[in-house]
Amino acid sequence: MEKIVINGGIPLRGTIDISGMKNGALPILFASLLVDGRCVIENVPAISDVYISLDILQRMGASVRMLDKNTVELDTQNIRGGSAPIDLVRKLRASYYLLGSELGRFGRAYVGYPGGCDFGVRPIDQHIKGFEALGAEVTLEGGYIKAEAVDGLMGAHVFFDEVTVGGTMNIMLAAVKAKGCTVIENAAREPHIVDLANFLNTCGAVIRGAGTDTIRIRGVETLHGCTYAIIPDMIEAGTYMMAAAATGGTLRINNVIPKHLESITAKLEEMGVDVVEDDDYVIVSASKKLRKINVKTLPYPGFPTDMQPQVAVLMCLAGGVSFLNDSIFDRFKYVEQLQRMGASIKIDGKTAIIEGGTPLSGAQVSAVDLRAGAAMVIAGLAIDGKTEIDNIYRIERGYDDLVGKLRAVGADIKKINVPDAVSFGMMA
Ligand code: EPZ
Repeated sequence: MEKIVINGGIPLRGTIDISGMKNGALPILFASLLVDGRCVIENVPAISDVYISLDILQRMGASVRMLDKNTVELDTQNIRGGSAPIDLVRKLRASYYLLGSELGRFGRAYVGYPGGCDFGVRPIDQHIKGFEALGAEVTLEGGYIKAEAVDGLMGAHVFFDEVTVGGTMNIMLAAVKAKGCTVIENAAREPHIVDLANFLNTCGAVIRGAGTDTIRIRGVETLHGCTYAIIPDMIEAGTYMMAAAATGGTLRINNVIPKHLESITAKLEEMGVDVVEDDDYVIVSASKKLRKINVKTLPYPGFPTDMQPQVAVLMCLAGGVSFLNDSIFDRFKYVEQLQRMGASIKIDGKTAIIEGGTPLSGAQVSAVDLRAGAAMVIAGLAIDGKTEIDNIYRIERGYDDLVGKLRAVGADIKKINVPDAVSFGMMA
């Protein structure tokens, strides 16, 4: 088993280059099912969720060629619908984009129920509502989702009851080659939704309004291949911004779109952290004691739920009592790990009440999910002492070379291999 070991208390100083956005790359890779021809996708992050997605596509019959560490060439002309291997599909939530892509290409889809970070129930009722509005009949049977539009997909008016990133992108994928026009109301506005629309429009789609709460899609007959570069990962950038704040260091974070970071920057400045932004980088420096703040997660452009565990660590380091409300997911399982480090946190429904300033100590902790694992790393970097983190495969799902990037800015962090515990029974 691999672990991350950190000797913390060192202010981070230097430059970090941000990779392509995980939650933008995954839908674009699956969207290649809709394209007649060769696509070259650039700035793809080197993370395990990408490798699993490419493995799924290859096992379905797509031609997949890595042109370099962050560039992949895809051609899905020979893909077999409904053939995604369920053992891989269950490893990531983004496999649900196969539903929209297969529906958009074949008029039918057959995909295992998606996996992903365990935040309790993660419904897809809004995805199904959208597919049905487009004329598909959707059934769940034996752990698979089956969708079929016997008369072909017809443009429709879809009004989401919840603001859903995955739902918005999945309906975009299904509608882009449907007959007629589709309007998605109460759409999610995340930057990676704009990225998917831009990719599809570069392939010849007609999508307008992505990034607003109303997206209009005029169905087209065919999409041609293209070359497209993924936007930078705002959550990766935010994570390193918070690492700078937690260690009292100064980091220049390159390859960002500052506009995407506005809610994160605003909260850091509220805590007394200095953030300077320019065209494609930010410089984050923290010397003073962090001030307490209150945070409520919201769909973009609000404070992202994917930064919730990371900001909780800063609240533990700040003076005073902070309140952290997650209106989107029940993802507080990491609190127990922070309590092992001495954090004083109470959970009241969707809100964590964090009494900052209690001294934290290094400990053996677990990455309970992707962003919680990133939060454990930030805590370990901030604490003067040794922290060990296991289940780090969950971190490597979404962070490209996290250990390497942190070592380059002075962190005493390394990955070690620990033989799995040998039970006494096996000692005989
Ligand atoms: C995507 O998840 C991301 N995952 C998540 O990132 C991210 O936290 C989330 O969007 C919000 O930004 C991927 O892109 C692979 P939602 P998704 O549909 O699409 C409810 C990470 O760490 N809902 O926007 O599953 C849902 O329960 C991961 O990178 C329904 O009720 O999120 C939640 O309360 C974690 N019915 C809210 O909407 C539905 O049909 C937002 O979920 C769909 C969602």
